[in-house]
Amino acid sequence: TKPLTVAIAGLGTVGAGTVKLLQEHAGLLAERAGRPIRVKSVSARDRKRDRGIDLSRIHWVEDPLALAVDPEVDVVVELIGGSDGVAKALVEKSLHDGKHVVTANKALIAHHGTALARLAESTGVSICYEAAVAGGIPVIKLMREGLAANRIKRVYGILNGTCNYILTEMRRTGREFADVLADAQRLGYAEADPSFDVDGVDAAHKLSILASVAFGCEINFAGVHVEGIRHVSATDIAFAQELGYRIKLLGIASLSEHGIEQRVHATMVSLDTAIAHVEGVFNAVVTIGDYVGQNVAEGRGAGAGPTASAVVADLLDLARRRALPTFAIPASKLAKLPVAPMERH
Ligand code: NDP
Ligand code: HSE
Repeated sequence: TKPLTVAIAGLGTVGAGTVKLLQEHAGLLAERAGRPIRVKSVSARDRKRDRGIDLSRIHWVEDPLALAVDPEVDVVVELIGGSDGVAKALVEKSLHDGKHVVTANKALIAHHGTALARLAESTGVSICYEAAVAGGIPVIKLMREGLAANRIKRVYGILNGTCNYILTEMRRTGREFADVLADAQRLGYAEADPSFDVDGVDAAHKLSILASVAFGCEINFAGVHVEGIRHVSATDIAFAQELGYRIKLLGIASLSEHGIEQRVHATMVSLDTAIAHVEGVFNAVVTIGDYVGQNVAEGRGAGAGPTASAVVADLLDLARRRALPTFAIPASKLAKLPVAPMERH
């Protein structure tokens, strides 16, 4: 059987993790997909860097944009990052050339996802981004497929592993913010620019994507109210604990007759709730559907293994030749919803 031929751009935490998973689970994946998934080529900046993976049978391509025009490649996997620049150029070029795209890049999807989805639909290919939201939790598939029969009015959760790790470690150990952030960077959880994590921007990227899938609207990242966790002190965390609360960075999106409200900020969460006990690098997404009621999904939100798991799940879908819609409805039909005035809770 003809393999699914893949090219991977970016071999950092996620890219190297993806190659490792594809190699270590090659037999299992071929069995599940009904055909092998073959990595033909890769691209990154530094050819000499040891990435702890075997690249001996994979072509190294200097210019990532060349991956988009290789006629043998079925899927381009974009794991470089950034909302513009080479990542955007590569994704656009690949979709134009009729190649499927898999990406973990939430900044790109938050800023350009609606347009990219429309481009993909126009050329008859898929853009898959399961890894972009909540790391290893398959939340896009859950909302787009598993909960597709529901009207969703609210979706919220812990969407940034780095912040949850920092808040958890500060509470458990009393260590300083900067010290714990350095740990999160070493573990491969943080963004290349960690201010995206600690200032709430990364959670806002993910929330705007979730809201679009949940409510069938265009992605509106600019409409998210964003606050981070830099101002949260060890004393705040200790007082919250005394009062029966945990401090969590939450992303919350709600749909009402006034439009859509999207907010990211540190929140006091009662210890009586499940989400208060989601700790460390774990994320959790709570969805309220009119028929299903409350649904909670929890899992690791960052790091090589969980993110590779989501990237490769998208590749498996494509290898099985499943038609993958980008959102719950065709991208051409996504509504432009007004931003509702923010309610104080
Ligand atoms: P890294 O910084 O670890 O890796 C980025 C990779 O892109 C590196 O291999 C780098 O090359 C390569 N790269 C950067 N610029 C260029 C360029 N101009 N041309 C070619 N290659 C380039 O990032 P991550 O792996 O952590 O993240 C990748 C993507 O996945 C981002 O969009 C991120 O937001 C997303 N993501 C990350 C998660 C995580 O836990 N880390 C989880 C979910 C999503 P070189 O190695 O040679 O420097
Ligand atoms: N920096 C992100 C986080 C990676 O910490 O959640 C996963 O998207």
